[in-house]
Amino acid sequence: MTSAGRYGERFFSPEDAGEGDRVDLAAATFDDTTLARLRQLGAGPGWRCLDVGAGTGTVARRLLREAGVSEVLAVDRDVRFLAAYPTPGLTVRQADVTADDFPPGRFDLVHARFVLMHLPSPERMIATLGRLLAPGGVLVVGDAVDLTTADAPDTPYTLVMRAMWRGLRDSIGTDVSRVPRYPEMLRAAGLRSVAAEIHVPPLVPGSAISRFWAQTLDRTRSTMIATGLVDDALVDEAVRHLDSPECADLPPGMLTAWGRSPL
Ligand SMILES: C[S@@+](CC[C@H](N)C(=O)[O-])C[C@H]1O[C@@H](n2cnc3c(N)ncnc32)[C@H](O)[C@@H]1O
Repeated sequence: MTSAGRYGERFFSPEDAGEGDRVDLAAATFDDTTLARLRQLGAGPGWRCLDVGAGTGTVARRLLREAGVSEVLAVDRDVRFLAAYPTPGLTVRQADVTADDFPPGRFDLVHARFVLMHLPSPERMIATLGRLLAPGGVLVVGDAVDLTTADAPDTPYTLVMRAMWRGLRDSIGTDVSRVPRYPEMLRAAGLRSVAAEIHVPPLVPGSAISRFWAQTLDRTRSTMIATGLVDDALVDEAVRHLDSPECADLPPGMLTAWGRSPL
């Protein structure tokens, strides 16, 4: 499957007004889960960490401030949000992580959240990132899994979510159907002690995750409509539903998978 563009071009450009805030709404929802897992896996004093596609840098900064890691290299194609808030221990580097000259050294932790699902080959990226681990280091990859909308009865919300995934796949190559196979990909990359978990937050009206999805549906409206599966009125209805007390749907969740480099 080839797509016409990639993340940050037609959709989710950091130039778009409010894009940093949209990314922060997802971060506000998932950061506690991510940080708890990273700390449980050992992230702490002395650790050298790489955050791939670091976005606004919430995970990178919390690793430094709360987990007390020694240093974090935060890499992104666009570093405007990362560079805006310098933090002791945080080094920012602008790079395309799919480029051949990306590999920046060896790390105790390599983390990538909501990034690989937008790239052409998560298998290849997991293998590349696995090679950046110091002996005993851990690779942690997190991405979206939509466990509920594919086979659910047709409602404005489920129809629009399905159209969004189809539209994003066609336009920028985003493909969440590969995410449940991350544990298998980590094992194929030679990593050990592979495991995974899923967190699905509740869609409470007004919550960060409900606002994140309302904004994301609004931003991806043109690609959804181009699929022919939905129209403007249906997207409006789905966005309104997310802010309604009637909303009892489940949103996509976050699958986090990890594996360790042999000592
Ligand atoms: C959905 S955001 C996730 C941000 C952050 N990891 C988080 O979970 O809050 C995806 C990030 O990946 C970055 N990104 C996408 N493709 C990339 C690439 N090829 N190289 C480097 N960064 C990339 C984007 O610029 C964006 O900041």
